[in-house]
This record gives sequence, structure tokens and C-alpha cells, in this order.
Amino acid sequence: MVANILNTREVLEKGYKKYSLNDKAFFIPQLEANNILIPPAWIKAYKRAPTSDLNLDGAIEDIRYLLGPQIRQNSYHIEWTRDSLTPLMPSVLDWLHEEIADSLDQVLGKYNHDFQKVKIFPFSLSLNCRIAARIVVGKPLCRDVKFQHLCEQHSQLLVVLSMILKFLPTWCKPLVVRLSTLRGVQRQITDLVRPLVLESYRKLKLGDQDSKGTVSEPPEEQSLMDSLVRTAISRTPSLTVEEDVVHEITMRFLSILFLFSGSPTLTVANMVLDLVSEPRELYFDALRSEITSVFEKYGGRWTLENLKELDLTDRYVGCFIKESMRLRPAAFTIAGRKVINPRGYTLPDNSATVPLGSYLTLPMYAIHHDQNHYPPRTEDGSDFDGFRFKGTENNEAVPLVGSSETFLSWGAGRHIW
Ligand code: HEM
Repeated sequence: MVANILNTREVLEKGYKKYSLNDKAFFIPQLEANNILIPPAWIKAYKRAPTSDLNLDGAIEDIRYLLGPQIRQNSYHIEWTRDSLTPLMPSVLDWLHEEIADSLDQVLGKYNHDFQKVKIFPFSLSLNCRIAARIVVGKPLCRDVKFQHLCEQHSQLLVVLSMILKFLPTWCKPLVVRLSTLRGVQRQITDLVRPLVLESYRKLKLGDQDSKGTVSEPPEEQSLMDSLVRTAISRTPSLTVEEDVVHEITMRFLSILFLFSGSPTLTVANMVLDLVSEPRELYFDALRSEITSVFEKYGGRWTLENLKELDLTDRYVGCFIKESMRLRPAAFTIAGRKVINPRGYTLPDNSATVPLGSYLTLPMYAIHHDQNHYPPRTEDGSDFDGFRFKGTENNEAVPLVGSSETFLSWGAGRHIW
């Protein structure tokens, strides 16, 4: 068991070659739960499994100690990102562009054209936290240095604590959280967010607002706070005390912040590292000129149309992003689901029924590094080939936004939209 934990990658790669490639599941004993690794051939059936059998919430249940039990019991903020935030993306893109430009000006210097040393992981975390904050709490607060620092601290604490909690017995999890600095950081964030939440809540109470909590018009305000508060009230009728509303919205904001600070932070940082690790003439100039021409074509604004254009089969940018995400996945395994049906879950090939509480997942790292799908670059044998997908059928088979049997960076569940 200890060897499995210490050499996860090798164990998974061995299992992948021996079992997954023969369309069989394999099993790794781990401290927190027994992991059942399912083969890529079963992904379609896995995706279709009802949430009453396999559940994502069950797979990340420790979040209740960190952000409160209601976060998973009533996870309306996840639906909010899909139903309210996603349709508003075209209008929100301007905000994102502004935050990215301002963050870059701050670290590189607005009028400086020389190279600067930048610690890319901290920068990427701070950028992603700022983007999430701009969307939910708006411009003044997302640019407040103290607030930015607290958001980054909170995101890091969530990662560290969730790793620690995995290995602890249930009884001592709340104790460890209480001994950490998490609650103190949450209190400080709550104090800074309180005026904005109360302003939205009082406006909502006074005004004649859409009680379903959905927004179809682009936001006139400078954040989506009104929309989040409206959703919270409609999905939690027991919320009537102002301080409870403030706590509820702060915790939802922190959950959304966490979505931005995990995979996006690693993805952006890895992409920059991939770019600067390769000779400049290989990728840099082609990417830059493609970005500039697409940006100018749409009048110097980022829109969904020009972003989509960067992902066309004959373009460079989408291919480069995909190759970086493929080669440097955020985890060894992905799309973890817990069996929550008391009668267990019958594997798609009917070979066995795994019991309640089992944990199923996909060996993403091994799939992404399978040289049958992704042969090394011919010139120097390197795994990274920034334009491997360009103009190929593989580019269609491996969508940048979505999942396939050979590309799982976005997971493999009903949550992909
Ligand atoms: C590079 C960027 C990102 C990557 C690679 C990424 C990847 C993932 C993955 C692998 C999952 C798990 C899916 C599964 O288990 O099948 C996931 C879930 C999710 N992601 Fe992302 N994500 C990114 C950015 C974002 C952003 C910016 C948002 C927010 C707008 C977001 C919202 C979500 C939501 C709502 C879920 C479902 C989580 C849950 O139910 O708890 N993701 N993402």
C-alpha cells in the first residue's frame, strides 16, 4: 500500500499497460479508499451511469469540513456557473481581458519591454483568483491587495488541507481544520465581502426581481453578485437572516474561487513553462502572430468568435494549449466517482459488481502518455510536440473543450458542458 502511494505513477502505468489496454479494470489499494481504475473503452458507459449509482459529490466529501456541509448537500453554485455564468461569458470576457492585462502590467511593468523574472505558479494562482473575484465581487474588491492575498491563501489552504484530510480518520478531520488558519482567513474574507452581499440582498428584497435565480440579460452591474444572491435565496428559502446570507454567499464565492484556482492555475503555468522551455523559433513567433491577427480581426476585443477561431484545426494556438494540457495533466487520475448505490455498481462489461463506497477513476496520466496515441516528436524524441494536432484528424478527435478516450483533461462526466 505504501509503495502504491509513493510510486503512484509507475503503479498506474503498469496497470494501464497490463489491464486498461486489454479493456479490463484494475484495482489499487490506497489508504483513503480502494481505487478501481476503469479502462478508456468504458468511458461512454461510465459517463452515462446515473448519479444515484456513481456520484462526484461522494468523491470529494471532505469539502464539507472545509466549506460547510451545505456546499455539497445543495450545490447550486455549480448549476449557477453553468446556467448563469456560462451564458454571460461573452459579456464577461471584457472583464477577464482587463484583469489579465492589468495583472501583466503589474508584474512586467506597463511600459517595460525587457524580460522580467516572474514566478509563474504564484502569478498564475493570483491571476485566476483575481478573475474569479472580478466575476463574483467586482472590480474594486478584486483589485484590493489584502483581499487578493487572502483569496490566494485560502485556495492554497484548501489544497493542503484536503490532501491532509484524505489520510485522517473522520473523527479528527474537524479538529485539524479548527487548528489550521482556514477559519481565520474565511472570517477576514467574509468581512470584506459583507458590504457587497448586503447591498445585493437588500436590493433584492426591495426590488421586483426574477425569483428563479437565472439571468438572461448581460449584467449592467460590474459583477455577478446580484445573480448569485438571487440564486442562493431561491434555492435556500430558509435564508432570512442577513448574517446567514453573508456567510452563505462567502462560502459559495470561495467554492467558485477554488474552481478557478486549481486546474486553471496549473494549466496556465504549465503552458507558459512549455512555451519558454522550447526554442523561440519553434512556437513563439507563430503563436504570437496568430493571436495578434485574430485579435485585430475582431476590432481589438476578445469575443467567443475569435477564441473559437484559435481552436480551428489549421490554427496553432488551440493545438499548443491541448498538447500542454495532454502532457502535463493536473493529476494522475481523473473523473473520480464514489459508488453510492447500496446495491453497488455493476461494471460496464458485467464482470463484477463493486460494493457501496468503492471509488472509481480513470488513469488519465497513463492515457495521455500512451505513445501509441501520442508518438514522440521525430526530430529529438521529445514528448512535447506543440503542433502535433495541427491539421490532423486527431485534432477533431481530441476536442479542446470536451473529452474523448484519449484526452481527459476536462474529466469525463455529466459536468462537462
Ligand atoms: C484550465 C481550466 C480548467 C480545467 C482543466 C478544468 C478541469 C475540470 C475537471 C477535470 C473537472 C472534474 C470533472 C469530472 O470529474 O468529470 C472539473 C469540474 C468542474 N469544473 Fe473545471 N476546469 C477548468 C476550469 C474551470 C472554471 C474556470 C470553472 C468555473 C467557471 C470550472 C467549473 C467546473 C465545475 C462547476 C465543475 C464540477 C465540479 C463539481 O461538481 O464539484 N472549471 N473541471
